[in-house]
Amino acid sequence: MRTATRVIGYGALLSALAGPGLAPAMAEQSVFDVTVLAAACANCHGTDGRSPGSIPSIAGRPETILNTQLQAFKSETPPPGTTVMDRLTKGLSDEQIDALARHFSQIALSQPRQEASKP
Ligand code: HEC
Repeated sequence: MRTATRVIGYGALLSALAGPGLAPAMAEQSVFDVTVLAAACANCHGTDGRSPGSIPSIAGRPETILNTQLQAFKSETPPPGTTVMDRLTKGLSDEQIDALARHFSQIALSQPRQEASKP
């Protein structure tokens, strides 16, 4: 699986950034895998959140902005013009939104895909 190395990398990063109140071990063995959640976003936002088309890229955005946008979509009053993101975020927990915002903020928008040469 192409994202296998990334999973391990982010697992370590996530536990490092998890902050007080959340034991590092918990973040590492969390009940959801952020890369699985993030894979669903790739269908529309491009691989690793770098969109090739008209849907906005979400890679490399500040974590707080992504988090705010996702919470806004999830809220009872999503931003005007929202088409699909309100429905997509309804099923996400706050923890999942935090993890997704962190995940995509850590991907450089212009960074070449390091896994591209692997079979
Ligand atoms: C079915 C296609 C689709 C999928 C899947 C999808 N998105 Fe979106 N996303 C959109 C569209 C379209 C917009 C523009 C707002 C709207 O119309 O709902 C958007 C907007 C956004 C924005 C705001 C970008 C901006 O600049 O306004 C963020 C952040 C975002 N999506 C994150 C995600 C995340 C994280 C996931 C995975 C959990 C995801 N999206 C999955 C289609 C999708």
